[in-house]
Amino acid sequence: MTLQERCPVLKFDDLGDERGKLVVIEGGQAIPFDIKRVFYIYESDSTVVRGQHANKESEFVLINVAGKSKVRITDGSEEIIVSLDKPMTGVYIPKMIWKDMYDFSSDSVLLVLASTHYDGSEYIRDYDEYLELMK
Ligand code: TYD
Repeated sequence: MTLQERCPVLKFDDLGDERGKLVVIEGGQAIPFDIKRVFYIYESDSTVVRGQHANKESEFVLINVAGKSKVRITDGSEEIIVSLDKPMTGVYIPKMIWKDMYDFSSDSVLLVLASTHYDGSEYIRDYDEYLELMK
């Protein structure tokens, strides 16, 4: 499987009507895991690079619910860059994939859905260590 196939861009149901948009994401249905944690990142500017880690246990879906950002995704051999700029779409990031989020617009609100509760010890924050583990 290519990295792109392992990290698909998911399109969510839009139940909007004349009153406005409504996007629904159900764990285990629209995304391939049950949601245990939600966090969001905002007021990161265009010079900031966030993420810079891989996770041994967590899977994520990243959605820019407002504004724009980009995520660079790699498994140590392939690399893809996904532009996040639509509240109806998100990118799925499985375990053991390295990610950098950057190029945040000033109005960016990056919503992250995670399959686990937070555990700092499952984060790999050293890229050389990550490459070693991926060998
Ligand atoms: P960090 O992982 O550096 O954020 P990002 O991946 O967006 O660059 O997290 C920043 C701080 O917040 C760090 O001290 C860990 C803490 N944190 C939690 O306590 N719980 C969480 O769910 C997350 C994502 C971070």
